[in-house]
Amino acid sequence: MTAASAVRTRCPDGLVVAIRDATAQHADWQQTAALVAEQLRAHLPGPEILTRAERAGDPDSYVCHLLHTEPDGSFSVCALVWRPGQLTPIHDHVTWCVFGVLQGAEYEELYALRDGGACLEGVGSSVNEVGEVGGFAPPGDIHRVRNCGDGVAISLHVYGADITRLGSSVRRIYDLPVLAPSAS
Ligand SMILES: [Fe+2]
Repeated sequence: MTAASAVRTRCPDGLVVAIRDATAQHADWQQTAALVAEQLRAHLPGPEILTRAERAGDPDSYVCHLLHTEPDGSFSVCALVWRPGQLTPIHDHVTWCVFGVLQGAEYEELYALRDGGACLEGVGSSVNEVGEVGGFAPPGDIHRVRNCGDGVAISLHVYGADITRLGSSVRRIYDLPVLAPSAS
């Protein structure tokens, strides 16, 4: 079996080709995230990209389904399935990331290190509804994502790395105190 034949591909061809073309521009991470986001917006699939069983989620944790790994390792595509209230730890990433919401809504909180890295401060939040696409790249990408809705949320994530090789897109999990918001 060749390495290429071992690659799982469950993404529509049009989406894979569009992401490939965007990454082939070899822009910097911020620009690549913007270029890939533009393509994901134009090719965003529906939640039916997953099976009915996958769309049900898991009672223990959100689930990541790998849909595509580019043979040269330049990007991976995953679908994340979140039951209500499920959330990530606070983390950042090894590379650029682009996401699109296929079902439900995701609540994202952004953080920044304070006191020389001893604690975190919340620096922003947003709700991303179905159909919304966004992208970001390190540094300044410390965040936590949760399903803030009443039903299952599903989102597609594109990472600029072979996450089967790395194991994950996460660079670091931040188990640090979070400063209380200052009164204004
Ligand atoms: Fe993340």
